[in-house]
Amino acid sequence: MSELPDVFGLGRFPAVRMRRNRRHAWSRRLTCETQLSVDHLIWPIFIHEGQGIRQAIDSLPGVERLSIDLLVDAVGQARRLGIPAVALFPATEPDKKTPDAEEAVNPDNLICRAVRAVKAEHGDAVGVICDVALDPYSSHGQDGLVRDGHVVNDETVEVLCRQAVVQAQAGCDIIAPSDMMDGRVGAIRQALDEAGCLDVQILAYAAKYASSFYGPFRDAVGSAANLGQGDKRTYQMNPANTDEAIREVALDLDEGADLVMVKPGMPYLDIVRRVKQQFGVPTFAYQVSGEYAMLAAAAERGWLDRQAVVLESLFAFRRAGADAILTYFALEVAEQLHATH
Ligand code: PBG
Repeated sequence: MSELPDVFGLGRFPAVRMRRNRRHAWSRRLTCETQLSVDHLIWPIFIHEGQGIRQAIDSLPGVERLSIDLLVDAVGQARRLGIPAVALFPATEPDKKTPDAEEAVNPDNLICRAVRAVKAEHGDAVGVICDVALDPYSSHGQDGLVRDGHVVNDETVEVLCRQAVVQAQAGCDIIAPSDMMDGRVGAIRQALDEAGCLDVQILAYAAKYASSFYGPFRDAVGSAANLGQGDKRTYQMNPANTDEAIREVALDLDEGADLVMVKPGMPYLDIVRRVKQQFGVPTFAYQVSGEYAMLAAAAERGWLDRQAVVLESLFAFRRAGADAILTYFALEVAEQLHATH
C-alpha cells in the first residue's frame, strides 16, 4: 500500500480512516453518491386478451399477464406509487400470428386497445411506452419480415413505421423500436411527424444485444415456440462488442432518437457507462427477463435476499449512469422506497 503514489493528495492512514464516514447511518446518507427513487423506474407489463385474466408465467415467477381491465388497475398502482411510466407488451393470440405479422398494424389489436384503456383512465399521469418490433405478431417469432430465410431490413422498416403510427394514434407516449433494423429510427420519426404525432417520443433500443437473457420474455409474449431454434444474430448485436454500441447509439441519435437504451442491463453496465459518458443523453437500461428470473429464482430458494439484491442491482444501474431502468421489480421497489422514506 505505502508504495502507491499519493495521487489524490488526500493523505494516508492513519490520518485517513475511510471507515469514519461510514460509522453512522446519517453519515452514510450524507456521503451517498447515487440516488435511486421511483422517478428512475419503468415497469414493463405483459397483456393478454380477456376479462379478469391474470396468468402466471413459469419462467418469471411473480410476473403475470394481465387482461386490459386488470392492466388499468395495475397502472393505477404504479401511478399511486409515483412510477413515471409503464412499458406494455402484448401476448398475441396464436391464431392471430402470421408470417407477415399483419396484426402488428391493426389499430384494434391488443396493444392499441390496452393503450386506449390506460390513457382513458390515467391520462398523462403515467407515460405509456410501446415496443416496435414484429416478434409478438409473427408466426416465425422474428422481429422483422423473413424473405428467403433472411430477415429483410427495408421492407420491415415500412411495417414498423405503420406499427409505430397505430400505436401513437392509440395514445402511446413513447415509441420504443426494439427491432434493431437499420434506419428505423429516422423512418419512424418521419412517419410519426407525417401523421401529426410531433410530440411522441422515440426511445431507441439503440444497443440491443443478441442475448440469451431474453428467454423468459419470449415465454411471456409466447414467441419462444415460434422462434424455435432461430436466433436474432443478423440484427441484434454481438455480446462481444462495445465500440459497435457507440456507433449504434450515434446513428439512432442522428436519426432523431429522444432517448436511448442499452439492453440487457447488468451484464452490459460497461456499455451503459460508455454511452452515458460519450453522449450525455437520457440513457435507459433494461433489466431484462432473464436477469429478473435469476434473482427471483435464487431468492425463492432462500439463496439471496430478494429485497436487498434487487435494490443493489438497481443502484448498480444508476452508478453506471442509467437515468432510468426498465425492471419487472419496479412495483415492489417503489413500495420499498416509499416504506423507507
Ligand atoms: C422484442 C423484445 C424483446 C425484449 C423486449 N422487446 C425480446 C427479443 O428481442 O427477443 C426482451 C425483454 C426481456 O427479456 O425482458 N423485440
